[in-house]
Amino acid sequence: MGKDLPAVKTPNHVAIIMDGNGRWAKERGLPRLEGHRRGGEAIRRAMETCREFGIRYLTVFAFSVENWKRPKDEIDGLMKLLVRSINHELPDLIRRKVRLRTIGCIDDLPSKTLASLRKAIDATAGFDEWNLIMALNYGSRSEVARAARQYAEAAIRGDEDTASCDWTRFSRYLDTADIPDPDLLIRTSGETRLSNFLLLQCAYAEMFFSPVFWPDFSREHFVEAIESFRSRERRYGLTGEQVRGQPSIMQF
Ligand code: IPE
Ligand code: IPE
Ligand code: MG
Repeated sequence: MGKDLPAVKTPNHVAIIMDGNGRWAKERGLPRLEGHRRGGEAIRRAMETCREFGIRYLTVFAFSVENWKRPKDEIDGLMKLLVRSINHELPDLIRRKVRLRTIGCIDDLPSKTLASLRKAIDATAGFDEWNLIMALNYGSRSEVARAARQYAEAAIRGDEDTASCDWTRFSRYLDTADIPDPDLLIRTSGETRLSNFLLLQCAYAEMFFSPVFWPDFSREHFVEAIESFRSRERRYGLTGEQVRGQPSIMQF
């Protein structure tokens, strides 16, 4: 960590749109699935960097609701890869006390994928310091629609009062209910769009777009993103003078 920078400048939650696995493989004349396999290794590296910098929450976009439209072979391969990686990584997650969580509709995943996920989620549920959150069958719009349905049902039951609906109350129904908002959003592979990822939670996230394909995303690339984050001034609608004059005002 840079000695001259205050600790508060390190993000608490980094969310990553891990993009470019297919192009990484294509460039090498390899099957797309090999890109996804190497992408799994990049997640492990990113987790190590998070630990090194005290980043307690890492969310990775692993499969979107739109990704079901891909060729069946790729989807099947990805789901199998997920089972293998989770089973392989579980002892290490436990050893390092990392809690595995998910956002998205995991119930719609193939039963074997779901079973290994549930096993890992249960086995790590007692940890709270380090969190790996996998976005699987995730899309912001469907998450919000589901949350709205649940909120409406709660209101019908009398558990919610619609007149006092605000962000704090509504956001409890999102998949990210007890997860702090991302401070830093990284997307790899040179694309500069959000692709339906954490649209509301990233309201005030700092964005970092890297040209590197995800399987090549190294510790150094991650550090570059963290350094960029540290150099920014987050203002949340205030003026720079307000922020610099009274940092405690920054409670958001
Ligand atoms: C991201 O890499 C991983 C998933 C979407 C599962 P891609 O598979 O989208 O790679 P590109 O964008 O085709 O290179
Ligand atoms: C976003 O990447 C989804 C994941 C990284 C899992 P995509 O490759 O699916 O996004 P688009 O289609 O290029 O926007
Ligand atoms: Mg892509």
